[in-house]
Amino acid sequence: MPDDRMVPANDVGDAFWLPFTSVRQFREAPLLIEAAEGMHYTLADGRRVLDAMAGLWCVNAGHARPPIVEAIRTAAGTLDFVSSFRMSHKGAFAFTEALTALAPDGLDHAFFTNSGSEAVDTAIKMARAYQRLIGQGSRTKLIGRAKGYHGMGFGGLSVSGIGRHRRDFGPLLPETAHLPLPYDPARMRFPHGCPAEGAEMADALEFLLTVHDPATVAAVVIEPVTGSGGVYPPPQGYLTRIREICDRHGILLVFDEVITGFGRMGTPFAAQWAGVTPDLMTLAKGITNGAVPMGAVLAHARVFDVFMSKSAEGIEFNHGYTYSAHPLACAAGLATLEVYRAEGLFARAGALWPSWNAAAHALDGARNVTDVRTIGLLCAIDVAPRPGAAAGSRGADVAAACLEAGVLVRASGDMIVLSPPLIIADDEIRTLFSALAHAFDTVP
Ligand SMILES: Cc1ncc(COP(=O)(O)O)c(C=O)c1O
Repeated sequence: MPDDRMVPANDVGDAFWLPFTSVRQFREAPLLIEAAEGMHYTLADGRRVLDAMAGLWCVNAGHARPPIVEAIRTAAGTLDFVSSFRMSHKGAFAFTEALTALAPDGLDHAFFTNSGSEAVDTAIKMARAYQRLIGQGSRTKLIGRAKGYHGMGFGGLSVSGIGRHRRDFGPLLPETAHLPLPYDPARMRFPHGCPAEGAEMADALEFLLTVHDPATVAAVVIEPVTGSGGVYPPPQGYLTRIREICDRHGILLVFDEVITGFGRMGTPFAAQWAGVTPDLMTLAKGITNGAVPMGAVLAHARVFDVFMSKSAEGIEFNHGYTYSAHPLACAAGLATLEVYRAEGLFARAGALWPSWNAAAHALDGARNVTDVRTIGLLCAIDVAPRPGAAAGSRGADVAAACLEAGVLVRASGDMIVLSPPLIIADDEIRTLFSALAHAFDTVP
């Protein structure tokens, strides 16, 4: 064991292969975080910084909330682990009740996973198995959407629409197709919420179904609001139209609400905000306030009932994970939902939207800013790439300038994305956007 004092502060070695990170760059200036509380992280050098990303779109109630911490502690000391294969624990049922009570009518059943990626892969399997059970076994194709992000499992990646994520891994699931992003920069740039026009962009689904026989399509998988692909609000009426087309052709609609769930849109789920109920909904992140890994698929009763009534005797859905409904995750989830309820955080997010929107769009004319998109408590800012430099270099410099000013934002290439905890205060919104304004003024 090396003596800590002998190791240079920034030498973290290379044993840890970080996800979605340039390990070589990270080693030059490792960003290490030591503690978190409320809206803030404490960095290894002692500085407190405002967390404008809710961790990674997940800590919706703010960090280290005592009721959640306490619930996890108690669970760990009471029932550290039990599988849910042919047994389970009361916490799983209590949490499922609370979770489904928040969901749109009909989404009455929850299947638990450990991440959003697993939730999406589970939903894809559920959709295909459902089609088989109703005598539609030819329906195996999946339709995703450009710029969609559905995690890194092979199923989710197959419906994802971000080329650089798909590029390196050989064949994905065969016979997937992708809808275009319903965003036309020529007429929609700098949107404040959902563009009023553009619902007809949903007809791209009808078009795809003239290429792919609808009788071969199992499900459409989309984020109601594109999240990590760049916060693209859907045109008004677009999601309703997608729902209608799916219904007309016997195709299941899956909403991936890993980001939009748990209050980001001012309602429990984006489904309620949009007034559109999917057949399956995938969740993760805010489900436990990020404190314990967990994901879920909410299934509509009409899907669940088919499994219960039409499958052969025995296991109705041959799928699951060792840690599905882990006792610590269920305890964290139950405590999280109670914090959301007690503090009215979903309504709070809705009430904050006008000031969030106004503060973000104050950047509309800033140097090198080519688009600002806001919806709910989300924002993406497109930054003009630096001519002749590596892609993402200006975005990274903007994020670094913000960190210097005490605000942690996320640079995704030359795009800055924001998704703060729903407890953010007005003065913290001002601090965040003035750090960004200063960064755009100063970063060349
Ligand atoms: C919409 C969406 N789906 C799925 C995922 C994957 O979740 P996880 O990273 O927990 O596997 C993410 C992660 O950001 C996401 O934003």
